[in-house]
Amino acid sequence: MEKIQKEPDNHQKRLVQAPGRINLIGEHTDYNDGFVLPAAVDKKMTVQLERNGHPFLCRITAGDLKEEFEFSLQGFSPLDSGWQNYVMGVVQELQQLGAGLQGFDCRFEGDVPIGSGMSSSAALECSLACGLNELFGLGFSEWQLIKAAQMAEHHFVGTKCGIMDQFASIMGKKGQAMLLDCRSLEYEYFPLELGGYQLLLLNTNVSHSLATSEYNTRREECGQGVAILKKEYPGITSLRDISLEQLLAGKGKMPEHIYRRCRHVVSENQRVLEAARALSEGKHKALGQLIYQSHFSLQHDYEVSCPELDFLVQQALDKDYILGSRMMGGGFGGCTISILEKRQAAQFVEEVSWKYRERFGIAPTPIAVSIEDGAKVIE
Ligand code: GLA
Repeated sequence: MEKIQKEPDNHQKRLVQAPGRINLIGEHTDYNDGFVLPAAVDKKMTVQLERNGHPFLCRITAGDLKEEFEFSLQGFSPLDSGWQNYVMGVVQELQQLGAGLQGFDCRFEGDVPIGSGMSSSAALECSLACGLNELFGLGFSEWQLIKAAQMAEHHFVGTKCGIMDQFASIMGKKGQAMLLDCRSLEYEYFPLELGGYQLLLLNTNVSHSLATSEYNTRREECGQGVAILKKEYPGITSLRDISLEQLLAGKGKMPEHIYRRCRHVVSENQRVLEAARALSEGKHKALGQLIYQSHFSLQHDYEVSCPELDFLVQQALDKDYILGSRMMGGGFGGCTISILEKRQAAQFVEEVSWKYRERFGIAPTPIAVSIEDGAKVIE
């Protein structure tokens, strides 16, 4: 790992940061062996780590929340909920990889808005995984750290997330989006150049409690779709292997909602590939159209949107200066991501904020992002 892993070396202290991410397109495709087009951003988690001389004691401070927590490396288990689970989850995954950890003090703080769909959780997991790798000279590869961070979320937090967020947080590159094949893990960087257009995130400032349970349900529903389709096409192992024509041919054999879940994933994979092409050819209007289509597919077929997200996308639809807009991340709240003319951005924010407040009683928050490098050691 160039940026993180040097010669395995022990340190007393380390300061490491890992960013949140945006995703241009490719939602709920990662855990279906599909394609995604994310990029790391300038919102990040910073972790300060120091050996404390104790063999087992870990003292953790969540700087933004002003909360503290202690646990022993000799025995720990998940709490009902809370940020502590991300920390202990990462520690457990590293231990399972054979890491010889000792007591440490850790303080983290960041500016990735929580519940915004920008992966504040991956930023925390990745900064900690990279930081411990450095502090204790563990010598794990980037891929091992990405996987450990993802599995922390599976095993300690309970969300069966895909690989996109952790991958983007560690592998991000300044000014570039990444087309990642979540099956082969091959990836390619694409300059995120939008000419007279810019990205705009609008945070709905809602985070509906369905997010975790429905996320896992969607994963299961995709599995059910694959199991049904396998009878017809025994060679397949995931929705990645299915074309829209094959899916349509199998429609009568599956419950209607399972068909729609599968249709989202299969069509979204196609959109990601088309979007990467459009981006590289500077075809911003075509990219915008794909982004709108992604939203409607997530809204109607995958059913992971919510009234607040739909409202913001609806407001964009009749504006010529907005090329595309959609919900971003897992859904049920968080941000929309839009591509719009730079010179119209401020006006749109003002107009949409007013209307949103009138409808929902709260204001959305515009979030300006720049595309930056993934996790790195600061000191
Ligand atoms: C969350 C998960 C990701 C991905 C997205 C939806 O961010 O952590 O793995 O599945 O939702 O695309």
